[in-house]
Amino acid sequence: MDAYRIIGGRPLCGTARVAGAKNAALPILAASLLADGPVELTNVPQVTDVNTLCSVLRALGVSVQRDETNARDGTPGRVQLLADHTAACLAPEHLVSRMRASFCVLGPLLARRGRAVVSLPGGCNLGDRPVDLHLKGLAALGADIRIQKGYVVAEANRLQGAEIDMHGPRGPTVTGTANVMMAAALAAGVTRIRGAAREPEIVDLGRFLNRMGADIEGLGESTVTIRGVSRLAGCSHRIIPDRIEAATMLLAAAITGGEVTLEGVCADHITAVSELLQSAGATITREQDLLMLRAADPLAAIQFAARPFPHMPTDLQPQLMALSCVSRGTSRVEDRVFPARWRHAAELRRMGAQIEVGQCRDVSAGEAGYGVASVVGVEWLLGARVQASDLRAGVALVLAGLAAQGETIVTGTHHIDRGYQRLEQKLCSLGADIERVEVPDSGADTSDGMRRRSRHPHAA
Ligand code: EPZ
Repeated sequence: MDAYRIIGGRPLCGTARVAGAKNAALPILAASLLADGPVELTNVPQVTDVNTLCSVLRALGVSVQRDETNARDGTPGRVQLLADHTAACLAPEHLVSRMRASFCVLGPLLARRGRAVVSLPGGCNLGDRPVDLHLKGLAALGADIRIQKGYVVAEANRLQGAEIDMHGPRGPTVTGTANVMMAAALAAGVTRIRGAAREPEIVDLGRFLNRMGADIEGLGESTVTIRGVSRLAGCSHRIIPDRIEAATMLLAAAITGGEVTLEGVCADHITAVSELLQSAGATITREQDLLMLRAADPLAAIQFAARPFPHMPTDLQPQLMALSCVSRGTSRVEDRVFPARWRHAAELRRMGAQIEVGQCRDVSAGEAGYGVASVVGVEWLLGARVQASDLRAGVALVLAGLAAQGETIVTGTHHIDRGYQRLEQKLCSLGADIERVEVPDSGADTSDGMRRRSRHPHAA
């Protein structure tokens, strides 16, 4: 079984470059289905979620060329795409179930080809993740939507612009906004989406669509107006930096009491986490696309609620919980987007963390229930064998291992590879002692019988 072996207790110091944003690249890759002409994307991260989506696009008749010269060393790459609109309109279950963001092909397929058959996404470790808002938005544009044997079958001769309320019980839907925005770009007439997601990744998608010839206004606001056009051309586009990876690297410096400078970061995309870390005692300075964090050791306890952008992203909640485990005092963590996103808590407890999780209900505010955790900071976490359950939970366990005393084995690195390209390479370059290893499935003692996969020169 693939795993990371980490020897903790080393402050991270140095400079790292931020990769392209996975969650911008995925909908933008899907949007290539709208183009009558070649699309060239750069700064596309080399992560397995991108590979999966490229496989889905190939199944839908899109030729996909990856720039091999970059792919080998894992630096952000170039992807060239050209869609054949006479091809099949079926996104197969075995690919969509592997990565729920593949559901983003629904809107562009429907708008450009008039028909889309896309498998409903499967279950998820983050809790219940319906797609009702996606389907509501597409139906409002005039699509005929049916569920058949686990697939969404959507058909429309020409979509019609509409007023669409996309507010959900836990705020806007990111990929739901993407699906409806992509469909509305080719609809006849004007579409106004109220309760649209404001995430930078949706802004990047909107800018890409406008570069193709769409007419979208209000990007980054909660109301977005799309004037449909009859055709969208190919174009070139550079993916924005990954704000979640950038913040994760800042947290790696914070949890180890180090000093890290990030290159190629958009600081305006991570103000919520930067402000929280400064309030906890870290020093953060910015200069153009550089951001430097120096951590007081240890930081003070933190309190935050994960909410839609511009608030604290839920995709940083596990990593911030790891930091709170070794902060001074008692921290409070809320997740109002995914109230059940706590699989990492049990694994952190195996390392000595003191965490209690529960559910709250703000009936007064008429809001849906939310998850809450209380974390009492301890002086040290102790290395252990822990299991990654999803992408962000996995990287939270890596951060905990970097701070812990002794050896930590994080199994399930395939989850982490979905969103971080060669994470161990980046962390080693900052002085971490981390390597890929093969460990027995049984969970037996890994100090023997362990086979190393890659040891980097930087690790001592
Ligand atoms: C996107 O997922 C991200 N993925 C997630 O990142 C991120 O955690 C999430 O947004 C929230 O920010 C991509 O962009 C590929 P949502 P998405 O629809 O779009 C409810 C990562 O680690 N909802 O914004 O699938 C839903 O249950 C991943 O990179 C409905 O009720 O999430 C949730 O409570 C994990 N009905 C809330 O909205 C719907 O039809 C937000 O979900 C859709 C969503």
